[in-house]
Amino acid sequence: MTLAIEADHLGKVYPHSASGVAALSDVSLAVPTGGVYGLIGRNGAGKTTFIRIAATQLTPTSGTARVLGLDVQGDERAIRARIACVPQESRPLYFLRTEEVVYLYLKMRGLPSADARRRTKEALDELSLTEHRTRLVSRLSGGTRRRVLCAMVLASDADVMFLDEPTTGLDPLARREVWQAIRRASREHRTILLTTHYLDEAEALSGRLALVERGRVVLEGSPADLRARIRHPYRVTIRGAIPRSELDGFGDVSEIEGGFLVFAQEEAARELARRALERGAKLSMGPVSLEDIFLEVVGRAIDDDNGAEEKALEESA
Ligand SMILES: Nc1ncnc2c1ncn2[C@@H]1O[C@H](COP(=O)(O)OP(=O)(O)OP(=O)(O)O)[C@@H](O)[C@H]1O
Ligand SMILES: [Mg+2]
Repeated sequence: MTLAIEADHLGKVYPHSASGVAALSDVSLAVPTGGVYGLIGRNGAGKTTFIRIAATQLTPTSGTARVLGLDVQGDERAIRARIACVPQESRPLYFLRTEEVVYLYLKMRGLPSADARRRTKEALDELSLTEHRTRLVSRLSGGTRRRVLCAMVLASDADVMFLDEPTTGLDPLARREVWQAIRRASREHRTILLTTHYLDEAEALSGRLALVERGRVVLEGSPADLRARIRHPYRVTIRGAIPRSELDGFGDVSEIEGGFLVFAQEEAARELARRALERGAKLSMGPVSLEDIFLEVVGRAIDDDNGAEEKALEESA
């Protein structure tokens, strides 16, 4: 099976990078065809850099990347015909009307007029943009403009769609409309590479995810794989009845408003829940969220890096 995106030891050092630090170092990733693949990580982790290389806007410094089996260095034109992007920072052409930007984008991609017209109408409906159909893009609100970009890309016939923080700045209802459009595109066998800082969004949409930290992939897999690979796959919150001193043996304990949050292994979580219920404490228990995983794994990666830096300093002293 051809992978939608395949990166092999990909590295990128920007030519004018002040620090000379690699924006990507040795990233290997395999994004299957069809479905949503989430790319998450802190600011500056390298997500946009990865997308720009895969979308043939930027050349890698080392390693290789293929999109739909085509090389990003050499097969740029063939790749560009089969991909579409919502860049992190961009806006649709200001002097056009909403329906014109979507329609012209689809026409430029080679769709026959009748198809382009039909798809434009469907996409505007899907993202609740129909009421803005004839308004100039320059007069739309920021979030509405962002939705127009999403409509353009998600209405396209591209096999691979790169959505770099498509829902940043959207209200909760508009976000969910974009989610529906992403799910619809995914059902139509498109591959969607999605970056987002909304981890509920990444979790709700992605079949697989990669967590990037300082230019490296530190965790990869389905949400269930990710959960299985961390130290404490369960979270328990307890309010009242049980003092902190009784919680310490169960896992990682932290204080929260009115009580405690404990990350624990499954057995310990069950035992803790049983005890809390017996004593009449308020309790909630469940698998950890993607946000919990992010905080644990990225927190550990930062600690490890800081440890290594200190060691290097000590050795050089
Ligand atoms: N044009 C550029 N020139 C030099 N350095 C750059 C350039 N673009 C990005 N960088 C650096 O590359 C690193 C990765 O940036 P990138 O934009 O890929 O991160 P990101 O994961 O998309 O972050 P965010 O979540 O903030 O969008 C950062 O250290 C950034 O400062
Ligand atoms: Mg980015």
